[in-house]
Amino acid sequence: MLNSNGLDIQRDVQLADLSTMGVKAISKYFATLDDINLLPEIINFVESTHSKFLILGGGSNVLFIGDFDGLIIKNELNGIQIVEETETQVLLKIGAGENWHALVEFCVGNRWFGIENLALIPGTVGAAPIQNIGAYGVELVDVFVELEAFDIDNKTFNVFNKRDCKFGYRDSIFKNTLKNKFIITSVTIRLQKSGEVNFGYSALKSHFETLGISTPSIDEIFKAVVEVRQSKLPDPAFIGNNGSFFKNPVIPVFHYDELKQKYPDIPSYPVTEQLVKVPAGWLIDKAGWKGYRKGDAGIHAKQALVLVNYGYASGQDIYQLSEMVLNDVIQKFGIKLEREVNIFGGN
Ligand code: FAD
Ligand code: EPU
Repeated sequence: MLNSNGLDIQRDVQLADLSTMGVKAISKYFATLDDINLLPEIINFVESTHSKFLILGGGSNVLFIGDFDGLIIKNELNGIQIVEETETQVLLKIGAGENWHALVEFCVGNRWFGIENLALIPGTVGAAPIQNIGAYGVELVDVFVELEAFDIDNKTFNVFNKRDCKFGYRDSIFKNTLKNKFIITSVTIRLQKSGEVNFGYSALKSHFETLGISTPSIDEIFKAVVEVRQSKLPDPAFIGNNGSFFKNPVIPVFHYDELKQKYPDIPSYPVTEQLVKVPAGWLIDKAGWKGYRKGDAGIHAKQALVLVNYGYASGQDIYQLSEMVLNDVIQKFGIKLEREVNIFGGN
C-alpha cells in the first residue's frame, strides 16, 4: 500500500531476518522510516487502524514470541553531523538509524575518544539510549548530551537531556514510564579529542598484559574490545542470539555473603555499601546450563548469559528455555533474574 505522502506500508512481513535471534514471526503491517516528515502520517495510520506500534532498529535486543498484530517501523534515519568542534572536544548529532558499530569505527578513525570500548555492539544509535548500552567499563551515559524524540500521543518533537533520560544500568525512562511512547530520531554525544583510554575492565587488562602493552592507544583498545568480544560472543550472522539475555542481578550484601560461604569463587562488583552485582553468566554456568541444547534453542557454550537459536528455534522455544533458566536460578541461588531482551508479539 503506498499512501499519498510516500509512506509505503507492506502487509504480512516476515521478521526472521529483521532480528538477530532470527526467529520466525509475521508483522501485520511494516514500513521503513527514512524521513522524519513521515512520522505524523505513520501515527495517523496507527490511530486510524487502531494498530499496535513498534519501532525497530537492528533487532538485536528483541525477541518475537509470536506474530505482531500491528505496525512495525524500521528505523533508517541516517546522518552524522558535527554540531560543534573545539580544540579539545567534538559534539556529534547522529541520526537514530545509523549503525552503532560503524559510528564507533568512524570516531576511532578520527581519534575522538569516548566510545571505543563500545565497539561491536550490534544495532542502531537510536536504540542505544533505551537500555543505556554498556560494555568494558563504559556506558552511553558517559558521552551522552541529549536526544530528540517524537511524542507518539502528542505528535510533537521533544528534547531529552541526560537527567531527563534517567539512565541506569541497562535502563532508562524509555524502558519504564515512557515505554513505547517516543520514537528517538537523533542522539547527540560529546567526545574528547585527546584523552585517557579506559582498560580497567579485567578482560581488557589481562588482554593487554598478555600482549605486553602498558599504555594502549585508542586503536589498540578498539581492536582488543573486538577480539575479546569475538572470543566469547556468538556472531548473529551465524548463530541467532540477543547478546546477554538477562541483566546481571543486584543483590543485598548479606545474600551475597551467604552465597559466598557455599560458592567461594562467586564473582561480584560493588554497587553500594549494601548492594553488589553478581554476573548472571556465572550463576547460569554454575547451575549447569552452559552448552545446554534442546532442539535448536540453547545456551551458548562460551558464555552462559547468551541464549542461542541454532537455526529453527521458535520465539516460544527461546522464551521457554529462558523460563527454565530463570526458575532454576531462583531455586539454586534465591535470585530472580530479569530479562534484558524486549519481548514482543504473541498476543
Ligand atoms: P532493537 O533490538 O531493534 O530494539 C530494542 C528496543 O529499543 C525495542 O524495544 C525497540 O522498540 C526500542 N527502540 C529501538 N529503536 C528505537 C528508537 N529509535 N526510538 C525508540 N525506541 C527504539 N547491549 C549492551 O548494552 N552491551 C553489549 O555489550 C551488548 N552486546 C551485544 C552482543 C550481541 C551479539 C547482541 C546480539 C546484542 C548485544 N547487546 C548489547 C544488545 C543490543 O545490541 C543493544 O541493546 C542495542 O542497543 C540494540 O539496538 P537495536 O537497534 O538492535 O535495537
Ligand atoms: N562468567 C562465567 N561463566 C559464563 C559467563 C561469565 O563464569 O558462562 C563469569 C566470567 O568469568 C566473569 C563474569 O562472569 O567473571 C562476567 O563475565 P563477562 O565479563 O563475560 O561479562 P558479563 O557480565 O557476562 C556484561 C554485559 C555484556 C558486556 C560485558 C562486557 C550484562 C547483562 N552483560 O556481560 O553486555 O558486553 O559485560 O562489559 O551486563 C549485553 O548487554 O547484551 C552484553 C553482551
